[in-house]
Amino acid sequence: MATIVKELSIFYLLLLLLLPLLGSCVERQVYIVYFGEHSGGKTVTEIEETHHSFLLSVKKSKEEARSSLLYSYKNSINGFAAVLTAEEASKLSDMDEVVSVFQSHPRKYSLQTTRSWVFSGLEEGKQLNQMKKGDLLLKAKYGKDIIVGLVDTGVWPESKSFSDEGLGPVPKSWKGICQTGDAFNSSHCNKKIIGARYYLKGYEQYYGPLNTTLDFQSPRDKNGHGTHTSSTVGGRSVPNASALGGFACGTASGGAPLVRLAIYKVCWAIPTKVKAGGTSCFTEDMLAAIDDAIADGIDVLSISIVTNEPDPYDGDGIAIGALHATKKNIIVSCSAGNNGPAPSTLSNQAPWIITVGASSLDRAFVAPLVLGNGAIIEGQSVSPYKLKKKMYPLVYAAQVVAPDVPKNYIAGQCLPGSLSPEKAKGKIVLCLRGNGTRIGKGEEVKRAGGVGFVLGNIPLVGAEIEPDPHLLPATAVDSNNAIKILNYINSTKKPRAYIVPARTVIHRKPAPSMANFTSRGPNSITPDILKPDITAPGLNILAAWSEASPPTTWEGDHRVVKYNILSGTSMSCPHVAAAAALLKAIHPTWSSAAIRSALMTSAGLTNNKGKPLTDAFGNPADPFQFGSGHFRPTKAADPGLVYDASYRDYLLFLCNSGVKNLDPSFKCPKVSPSANNLNYPSLAISKLNGTVNVKRTVTNVGGSKSVYFSSVKPPLGFSVKVSPPILFFNHVGQKKSFTITVKARSEMLSTSNKDQYSFGWFTWTDGIHNVRSPMAVSLA
Ligand SMILES: *[C@@H]1O[C@H](CO)[C@@H](O)[C@H](O)[C@H]1NC(C)=O
Ligand SMILES: *[C@@H]1O[C@H](CO)[C@@H](O)[C@H](O)[C@H]1NC(C)=O
Ligand SMILES: *[C@@H]1O[C@H](CO)[C@@H](O)[C@H](O)[C@H]1NC(C)=O
Ligand SMILES: *[C@@H]1O[C@H](CO)[C@@H](O)[C@H](O)[C@H]1NC(C)=O
Ligand SMILES: *[C@@H]1O[C@H](CO)[C@@H](O)[C@H](O)[C@H]1NC(C)=O
Ligand SMILES: *[C@@H]1O[C@H](CO)[C@@H](O)[C@H](O)[C@H]1NC(C)=O
Ligand SMILES: *[C@@H]1O[C@H](CO)[C@@H](O)[C@H](O)[C@H]1NC(C)=O
Repeated sequence: MATIVKELSIFYLLLLLLLPLLGSCVERQVYIVYFGEHSGGKTVTEIEETHHSFLLSVKKSKEEARSSLLYSYKNSINGFAAVLTAEEASKLSDMDEVVSVFQSHPRKYSLQTTRSWVFSGLEEGKQLNQMKKGDLLLKAKYGKDIIVGLVDTGVWPESKSFSDEGLGPVPKSWKGICQTGDAFNSSHCNKKIIGARYYLKGYEQYYGPLNTTLDFQSPRDKNGHGTHTSSTVGGRSVPNASALGGFACGTASGGAPLVRLAIYKVCWAIPTKVKAGGTSCFTEDMLAAIDDAIADGIDVLSISIVTNEPDPYDGDGIAIGALHATKKNIIVSCSAGNNGPAPSTLSNQAPWIITVGASSLDRAFVAPLVLGNGAIIEGQSVSPYKLKKKMYPLVYAAQVVAPDVPKNYIAGQCLPGSLSPEKAKGKIVLCLRGNGTRIGKGEEVKRAGGVGFVLGNIPLVGAEIEPDPHLLPATAVDSNNAIKILNYINSTKKPRAYIVPARTVIHRKPAPSMANFTSRGPNSITPDILKPDITAPGLNILAAWSEASPPTTWEGDHRVVKYNILSGTSMSCPHVAAAAALLKAIHPTWSSAAIRSALMTSAGLTNNKGKPLTDAFGNPADPFQFGSGHFRPTKAADPGLVYDASYRDYLLFLCNSGVKNLDPSFKCPKVSPSANNLNYPSLAISKLNGTVNVKRTVTNVGGSKSVYFSSVKPPLGFSVKVSPPILFFNHVGQKKSFTITVKARSEMLSTSNKDQYSFGWFTWTDGIHNVRSPMAVSLA
């Protein structure tokens, strides 16, 4: 028996209302009918016939059954996607063989709004922030011959980041294809991009035929997002990554520059007649992609796609696909989401996925404003345009408004048409944020003949600065500095200023800090699994870009660029995928859980000033923001101990998780352990009533003879005991189990601090390795 999962997001409801406009039918929707794993021994034809027979049992005719079928998943995933009525779906879900039937709904991928462009003085591997140059990369042979799959918007194959110069033959383990199509032929795959496919059936079922002026009907990337994520994982080292205007030069490189890339395009431009616009990725298309990726022989899967409303795992295409991938020991890295800073905003929370949050890099694009009184105001920019080195008249936009400016325009915000060319000409104009786009404000200054542009934050926005690629010399300042500039303008008859051309500065302190937008725990599906797992760089990340997409979303932007800077958990996810690929190259026999454990237990908790990681406002951050901490790939290569878990362990976890068993070939035992007993490298206990004992098992992957001592930092209001407190190992591969007893202190039980989580840590150390796990506990 299976339940029908019907989760309608607001986005989806909105589209439903628009459906009549699109000429689609409201009653029939795409459902995914999921059976679990293929039992083996069946031919492709037999599988298709079985799927047909299920469809036929609810449809009137063979023709109807055939035409309603979108996908028959034949590799690992046993299931199909078909157009069904609610009644037909309900009938199917009542059948014994069926695990779940769930409605597909479009997912918006997690591209953050910041789209800016520059390139910078990156050193090779520098994007893997704390990684010592060369060290780990050499050991991992730069990820040589590891195959990373990207489920995204496709790829721009001409980018130098995807050059296959000097690469050996395609690995023998590769079984995929190079699917051709619009502006994409077989020569667009090479020894770097070893395969490419696209999945469009779900999209077209919903929106009708793809408008080929909006997107390429092929693996080619129109959007830029997929080119960015794939070059972040595995882009070659590109010296002098060139860009508009001859602005600073540098080397761009992916985290694992010698991995092979397999491209699965599942996200497509939404038709222009649909108001919201943007890009959409459908569950049935993603499942088909993941099913193929598993069969193609990938080692790591990077998925920078999230939903606004998470589905339970049995109704979540990424979770189901990732579980099948995990069975084949494929490591799956996913974005945590950009829906922070509110709590419980995570996507991709299944325990077989690495859920990645986003934090800042130690890099800034410094473009100070020099005032006539000699003061130097800190600003940031990636504008490639430069002023002649001299002082220019400086005005506040409200002083140079046009006489006929519309009444509803707020002074000082440089809304379109608001500035007077007579008054602004030849001046540097300070505009404030608020309404209107940042790029548009610069464009207004340019239209009015201004020579330079200062974008000032208003107090509401505070200190977070967006270095944008403005169309004239420009810099952006925080709200305190905006007030300083205003005061200076008021203090003198002839205010003057000069914008120093932007330059890239690294080793900025403090860094990293958590991004404001990064989605937060607790886990909304299974609160007894702590999520996110880890954080990695996701603010202002430089990577390759599609030449079919301008660097900003501003409609007047027609520039073509090869590299662009983006922010989001979409950018941090491929960093972790790259790190996982390097670890896989060093430890080819390790399970996906062992590699995740290594990444998590070695993660860092301090910034480059040696202080605890903070949020965007400088307040202490917690594991619901960063999970186990900021990734440190070099340390992860030698973790000492790992918390391993098998496919079976995940199924056992599901028995007691309140989520459906996803593999009918597995029978849950009569008594199964509670969800927090999954051998996970972190620990979450929600609604603790009194005392709980949780079991964990560590595997020795360090020195053959070693002794590990436990230490604990208990969450406030709880006592924690680890037993035994010392673990002795005699050989590599040896496993030792221990129990963690967590007890609410009596004074806590009487207070009403329910739903409030406290955080702590437990650590195993042998003097060389620190194997640290965060814990989050709340009271019943
Ligand atoms: C593929 O297209 C490129 C142009 O984009 C062309 O130069 C090349 O010859 C084509 N290759 C094949 C195999 O058709
Ligand atoms: C396709 O998109 C273009 C660009 O937005 C638009 O002008 C055109 O009308 C669209 N075609 C169809 C058939 O909707
Ligand atoms: C990169 O640019 C520098 C300075 O313009 C130049 O000296 C160097 O040869 C260039 N390197 C490559 C590989 O083009
Ligand atoms: C934006 O415009 C709206 C409507 O005109 C106004 O109510 C609001 O205060 C403006 N916001 C800012 C930050 O100026
Ligand atoms: C600047 O002067 C004007 C008029 O004298 C005043 O309204 C405004 O508040 C002053 N601004 C600042 C930032 O001092
Ligand atoms: C943080 O995000 C929230 C929600 O999007 C937003 O209201 C707030 O202004 C942001 N803060 C900063 C400093 O960007
Ligand atoms: C906590 O456990 C006690 C004893 O087992 C039980 O009586 C009580 O109802 C539980 N409280 C909650 C909130 O579950």
